[in-house]
Amino acid sequence: MGFHTLDDFSVRGKRVLLRIDINSPVDERTLRLVDGSKIRSSIPTIRELLDRCARLAIVAHQGRPGDYDFIPLNEHAAFLTQYLGRRVRYVDDLTGAHAMRAIDGLGEGDCIILKNVRHIADEQAKRSPEEHAESGLVKTLSPKFDLFVNDAFGSSHRSHASLVGFTTVLPSAAGRLMEQEVRTLTRVIQNPARPSTFIFGGAKFADAIPIIEKLSERDTCDDILVAGLLGYAFLWATGKKIGSRTEDLIKKDSTEEAAASAKKLFERHPRKIHLPIDAAVDIEGKRSEYSIENLPSDAAIKDIGSRTLEIFSDIVKKSRTVFLSGPPGVFEKDEFKKGTEGLFMAIVESDAFSVIGGGHSSAAANRFGVFEQFSYASTGGGALERLMLGKQMPVVEALRESAKRF
Ligand code: 3PG
Ligand code: MG
Repeated sequence: MGFHTLDDFSVRGKRVLLRIDINSPVDERTLRLVDGSKIRSSIPTIRELLDRCARLAIVAHQGRPGDYDFIPLNEHAAFLTQYLGRRVRYVDDLTGAHAMRAIDGLGEGDCIILKNVRHIADEQAKRSPEEHAESGLVKTLSPKFDLFVNDAFGSSHRSHASLVGFTTVLPSAAGRLMEQEVRTLTRVIQNPARPSTFIFGGAKFADAIPIIEKLSERDTCDDILVAGLLGYAFLWATGKKIGSRTEDLIKKDSTEEAAASAKKLFERHPRKIHLPIDAAVDIEGKRSEYSIENLPSDAAIKDIGSRTLEIFSDIVKKSRTVFLSGPPGVFEKDEFKKGTEGLFMAIVESDAFSVIGGGHSSAAANRFGVFEQFSYASTGGGALERLMLGKQMPVVEALRESAKRF
């Protein structure tokens, strides 16, 4: 893959700086973490480094300055300690005397996690690895370490100081999660077993268009199923009436440009792109199904309808690769979970290699008890989308450049 991995270095007794992505959903009221699945995904690399007797310091971020979820990492440290079964000590400092003492004091198999790295003003500046190498963070921390390991796949689309700045000054390796995500996703996206089906759901219309556009041009992509609000947004873009309340929702995240591209896209690939033919509408909290032609004028669509579910499930059953990003309906409500649950069941019961991406889809899979039955669950949201667009990933590029140097 062009970068070093943990197989390429001896880490016994070495001081290792590890960047992970444990940015997690936070409850707005209690400011406690809602879900620990990203934290759990970072465990294999940490465990391996500690088992191999490294002296380990971790850097990570949570939220963005100014947002309610910009909180300290002490609860993350408690989660890490619990999942790992050994202590990960939180150090409320990054580049000051307190942090330096903690790093100097690391014994073999010890692990600390430093303060939320986004406290540093220049952390989020979009700069090259060489430019970030001149930052205070990198200049202060790098002399303290022998090796930099980046396992933050969920942030690999960002060119931030802690993500790319150490790779020009320290030997650097990808962690196990990074390695696995890049290998699995690259294969699924570039060379999927055929027929391959890509399912999009959720509500982010403007975001999804360029990704679907790129995919639809690939010969290796056989079918694209568009469900969720996204599917109805496509129908709306082609001129269908889908109910005023649904249209109001769509317009919140749409531009005329996005609608025009969606229309063109569907006209260009009418056999590859499949849109819903019916819908489940919310009538005073109850589920009512209509074909697209007969939707009530004020319809609020909350799920795909049964006929759409059947058609989509048939395509899934014939597939050898299925990729799903974004749930097909409002699965949190019992009345509207049928499409999501039904399609998820079809996927896990098929023989296809199945990949699920993004926090909401994973939450849905957890809810229906099928999370473990997917072949692969990605921790990437924005990162995964960027990878699917075939764009360069700054973190991956930085690791590759570093491998040429060290
Ligand atoms: C994420 O959750 O998307 C990553 O941790 C990156 O965070 P960001 O979108 O705030 O840069
Ligand atoms: Mg993000």
